[in-house]
Amino acid sequence: MNEQQRKQSNQIKQVDPSDIKSAPDSNLERIKNIDSDELIGKYFQATYEPPNLKKAKKRRREDVEVHYDFSIPEEMQNVGNGKKFLIRTYGCQMNEHDTEVMAGLLTDMGYESTDDTNEADVILLNTCAIRENAENKVFGEIGHLKPLKLEKPDLIVGVCGCMSQEESVVNRILEKHPFIDMIFGTHNIHRLPGLLKEAMFSKEMVLEVWSKEGDIIENLPKVRKGKIKGWVNIMYGCDKFCTYCIVPYTRGKERSRMPEDIIQEVRQLAASGYKEITLLGQNVNAYGKDLEIEYGLGDLMEEISKIDIPRVRFTTSHPRDFDDRLIEVLSKGGNLLDHIHLPVQSGSSDVLRVMARRYTREEYLRLVDKIRTAMPNATLTTDIIVGFPNETDEQFEDTMTLMAEVGFEAAYTYIYSPREGTPAARWEDNIPMEVKKERLQRLNALVNEQSAAAMKKYEGQIVKVLVEGESKKNPDVLSGYTERNKLVNFRAPKSVVGKIIEVKITKAKTWSLDGELVKKVVEVV
Ligand code: SAH
Ligand code: SF4
Ligand code: F3S
Repeated sequence: MNEQQRKQSNQIKQVDPSDIKSAPDSNLERIKNIDSDELIGKYFQATYEPPNLKKAKKRRREDVEVHYDFSIPEEMQNVGNGKKFLIRTYGCQMNEHDTEVMAGLLTDMGYESTDDTNEADVILLNTCAIRENAENKVFGEIGHLKPLKLEKPDLIVGVCGCMSQEESVVNRILEKHPFIDMIFGTHNIHRLPGLLKEAMFSKEMVLEVWSKEGDIIENLPKVRKGKIKGWVNIMYGCDKFCTYCIVPYTRGKERSRMPEDIIQEVRQLAASGYKEITLLGQNVNAYGKDLEIEYGLGDLMEEISKIDIPRVRFTTSHPRDFDDRLIEVLSKGGNLLDHIHLPVQSGSSDVLRVMARRYTREEYLRLVDKIRTAMPNATLTTDIIVGFPNETDEQFEDTMTLMAEVGFEAAYTYIYSPREGTPAARWEDNIPMEVKKERLQRLNALVNEQSAAAMKKYEGQIVKVLVEGESKKNPDVLSGYTERNKLVNFRAPKSVVGKIIEVKITKAKTWSLDGELVKKVVEVV
């Protein structure tokens, strides 16, 4: 299959606006006249496939092509001159980073960024599908944008990110919010310039969502959010198919970037003065498995440890793929920080089995032991879901005891939310909401207690803080993070922003530390 054919087979729906119906004269006309039933029936459902577990699991390991020749089409290079864009980002770091790429594309088209919806000529909602409440927030925002769009018909409103990979979401937008100008998927980000062009000139809703994952596009422009910490994607997608999770459907199969491309990006960040990078992937421990070389996350981290950048983190780890080679490399320390986010999801082996996590409580604990033996000071944090279908009180108690046994210093805790198209969504969501809430509250109380206890140990200690800027609550106070990712607030001259400095901890709170500058302000990298 040549590249063109592959692209076409990937492309399960792409609306050619000229096919739809004669274009109304203006965007405003379109909003009034759009016949969403016609759109859905004829152009959407016919070609759109919902997330399908069987099909998705049959993914073949055919080559994913890597492209190094991306450029913005000439006719789009100045289209944004004098115009502004705003991107609202929901969800995980992956989305935050995709937003940086879209900001890069728009900037290269001449647009400037703005925080004010009233000033924006292009508004993109980069959405998250992980839980129902994430989706509700986006639909709330779509509702808020409608009056603005009616007032400013030339405003382009786009929906992208994980929600746009879901059939039900796209149908709902087509039916209820036809004023949206474009919907594009997570594999279509690099197509933004062309899609924007269609949205500007066609007067019809532009839809492009490839259900099958795309190739890796290497040299996309990026406008990073800060100049101190940077994200670096090392892989895309997820092949784990935990039974509750929508990500393997919204992000496609695992595709690793080539090591040399990652290393070059890290070098460039180091050369531009970045102090910290976070290597990103949904399951970073699977890095390299799809490459034709014997090369894993441990090997990559070893090479990155030699680059002159003070701090290197990685997220998210999956316990199943966390191998000895990685532990060995991490245990050497240096710029590789020993904070490990290792989602466990449940402390009950039976629940873990139905979640398809592919490890037991005992295996998880053995891994924790191994990590602690190699890195005695490592900080462990986790993710937990409560109220999974059929979770009994005893099984929930197993989660509580695991939480204490591992001594997690922080945890993101969630109430189970059924996601259409996943296997768990077919099982009865049979734990009453009061029970789910009660479990969450008890778990959170324990998490808070453990976090506060971990913080307490820092009182009187001197820690190294990468100073990020003014604290969110008080502009007279600066804040930053320690190597083990603890938030520290302290007073100091603004000149220390962007530096790694020593701070003495004076007071521990539940989720942060207060400190004071150690006399000499000298960078301590
Ligand atoms: N790839 C990462 C995290 C992905 S999503 C991992 O495997 O750990 C982040 C977290 O959201 C998950 O760890 C899980 O705790 C939570 N999550 C995912 N799907 C969920 C669902 N359907 N309901 C509630 N929480 C969910
Ligand atoms: Fe979802 Fe993470 Fe499981 Fe992948 S490994 S399916 S992203 S929870
Ligand atoms: Fe959400 Fe997609 Fe991330 S579903 S958590 S934005 S991968």
